[in-house]
Amino acid sequence: MNKQKATNVVWHAHKVSKQDRETLLNQKGVIIWTTGLSGSGKSTIANEIAYKLHTIGKLTYVLDGDNIRHGLNKNLGFSPEDRNENIRRISEVAKLFSDAGAIAITAFISPYKKYRNFCRELVEPGKFIEVFCRASLDTCEKRDPKGLYKKAREGIIKDFTGINAPYEEPENPEVIVDTDKETIEESVEKVLNVLKKLKIIDS
Ligand code: ADX
Repeated sequence: MNKQKATNVVWHAHKVSKQDRETLLNQKGVIIWTTGLSGSGKSTIANEIAYKLHTIGKLTYVLDGDNIRHGLNKNLGFSPEDRNENIRRISEVAKLFSDAGAIAITAFISPYKKYRNFCRELVEPGKFIEVFCRASLDTCEKRDPKGLYKKAREGIIKDFTGINAPYEEPENPEVIVDTDKETIEESVEKVLNVLKKLKIIDS
């Protein structure tokens, strides 16, 4: 991962701790990390989880690939290096959100195992919940909500995940949602059940 460039920088401990903020909010700061092909349902699932948690009084924030690439990461493209930098920055941002006591829910293809694991290791064990949005390439290509698979097949977009750029499936995700077989409600329920099991929300 990136080396420390700045010298003469000193880490400060803060007076109000993560635990203080969690107590104030009556919740645990965690990262729910969705991963999967473009069109596999990450944003939909992330938004539905956020909505469900919000309605039970939990503070959430959705970090979404397409949106973040309009701002913080507007200088990044889709080369392996840029995707890695994209995920590195988002991992750090998600960590800050979880440190603030919020439930950060991310929706990035995040095709490389190594970088998803980078985020996992940034936070305490049990505070990174990987949700694999599993849908076949065929399904995602048929959905093609943004018409990007068509463009990739026509050679207009290069390095498109699943067509001419890799996607490494998670080996041990906390949750697998089969978005081509389940309803959105079923998928969301699966995630909520795992959050209950991990005592992130009450049963
Ligand atoms: S990631 O690989 O770096 O994690 P990210 O989730 O931020 O990707 O962005 C993916 C979104 O960018 C896709 O849903 C799609 O809308 C758009 N996109 C544009 N070009 C590409 C490409 N070459 N590969 C994948 N997605 C692309």
